[in-house]
Amino acid sequence: MTPAATVMERCDVLAACTEEPGRITRPFATEALRCAQQHVSDWMRQAGMTVERDNIGNLRGRYGGTGASILLIGSHLDSVRDAGRYDGPLGVMVAIAAVQRLSDAGTRLPFALEVVAFADEEGLRFGSTYLGSRAVAGKLGGDELNRTDEAGISMAQAIREFGGDPERIAGDRWTGEAPLGYVEVHIEQGPVLESLGLPLGAVSAIAGQSRFVLTFTGEAGHAGTVPMAQRRDALVGAAVFVQAVNDLAAGRPGLVATVGQLNVRPGAANVIPGEVTLSLDVRSPDDGERQIACKNLLEMASEVGRDHGLKLNVEQISERAAVACSTRITALLRRAIGEGAVEVASGAGHDGVYMSEITDVGMLFVRCKGGVSHNPAESVATEDVGAAIEVLGRFLELLAEQ
Ligand code: GLV
Ligand code: MN
Ligand code: MN
Repeated sequence: MTPAATVMERCDVLAACTEEPGRITRPFATEALRCAQQHVSDWMRQAGMTVERDNIGNLRGRYGGTGASILLIGSHLDSVRDAGRYDGPLGVMVAIAAVQRLSDAGTRLPFALEVVAFADEEGLRFGSTYLGSRAVAGKLGGDELNRTDEAGISMAQAIREFGGDPERIAGDRWTGEAPLGYVEVHIEQGPVLESLGLPLGAVSAIAGQSRFVLTFTGEAGHAGTVPMAQRRDALVGAAVFVQAVNDLAAGRPGLVATVGQLNVRPGAANVIPGEVTLSLDVRSPDDGERQIACKNLLEMASEVGRDHGLKLNVEQISERAAVACSTRITALLRRAIGEGAVEVASGAGHDGVYMSEITDVGMLFVRCKGGVSHNPAESVATEDVGAAIEVLGRFLELLAEQ
C-alpha cells in the first residue's frame, strides 16, 4: 500500500472512533478520543517514535535526531459534531507518514521530530478552543479548569478521568530549548486551491477570532394564554439578533460572523421561551475590523434586549489576534512545493495560533473537495495526500540542509 493510501485508510479507522454511532463526533477527553489515541500511539511506535501523553491529553511522539534541536509537527484528533474525517487527523497521519519514511530508510535528521496529536482544537466539549496547544504554550489554567460541559462535568474532572493531572497542566508547557518551528498539514477547508487547480498551498496567516456566549432572558409562559403584546419571548429576541449578525457580517468584506449554537429553555411546544443561550463566533484577517464588529454586535444585542424586554448577559469565551505564518518556514514550504507555489490565508483556526507563542509557525494546506469541511462530506484525493507527504518530506530535507 502507498503511504498516501495508508493515510487515507487510517483516517477511515479514526472515523470509527466516535461517541455518536453513524456520525463522527469526537470531543475532548472522551472514550472516542481515547480510541483514536490508541490507534495513533500504535502507528507512532510503528514509525519508530517513543510516545507520551501529557496532562491535558496531547499525544507526543518523538523521533530522535543527530542534534539537540527539535521540530514540532502536528494537528488535532478531536472533532466538531457530525464532522468530516480529515479536519485534524489528516495532519497527524501525514506527519506520521513522513516519520515512517525516515525510519524505513534508517535516516536521522540533524534535529529531532516531535509529532503532537492535540487533544482539543475545536472546543466542542467546553466551548473554549485550542486546549491542547494552549497547554503546550503555557496559556491554560486557573478558573478555566472549572468550566463545565453540558453534563456539568468540570474541565478539571474531565482531564482527571482521561488520565491527566489538572494540577500539573503547567507542566505541559514547552520548556526545552526553542524549537525550530511548528509545522501543520491541514485540509484547506475553503475553495481557493480547488479553484486554482492546485493540490497544495502554503498558508500566509490565520484569521483572528472572538467567541462569546450570549444569554437573553425573558419570561416563560403559557403558549395558549399569554397575549402576544404581553410576551417577553427570549427566542424572538434571539432570532432578531441572529439575522442582525448575518446582515452586519455580510456588509463587511473579510468579516464572518456565525451563531452556531442555540439553547432554548424550557424547550416545549406549548411554552413561551423564557431563556435562550447562543454562541457568537466572529473572525477576520484584520484584527481592528474584528474588534469593531464585536463592539457593534454586542451593542446590537443590547438594543434587541431593550426592544423585547429581555435581560442580556454576555460572556467572552476567547479572543485571538490574527497570526502571520513565519516567512522563513513558509519560504521553505514554498520551495518544497516547487514552481508555482501559492500562499493562501486561513479563515479557520488552527493550533498554530497558540504554538506561535513559543515558536515560528508554518502550515501546508491540502485541497479539499468543494472547500467543504465541518461536514461529513469533507473529502480529499489520495493523490493530493501523496503530494502532501512528498512535500513535507522535502521540507524536512531542506530544513536539514540549513
Ligand atoms: C476550527 O476548525 C475553527 O476554525 O473553528
Ligand atoms: Mn475544525
Ligand atoms: Mn482543524
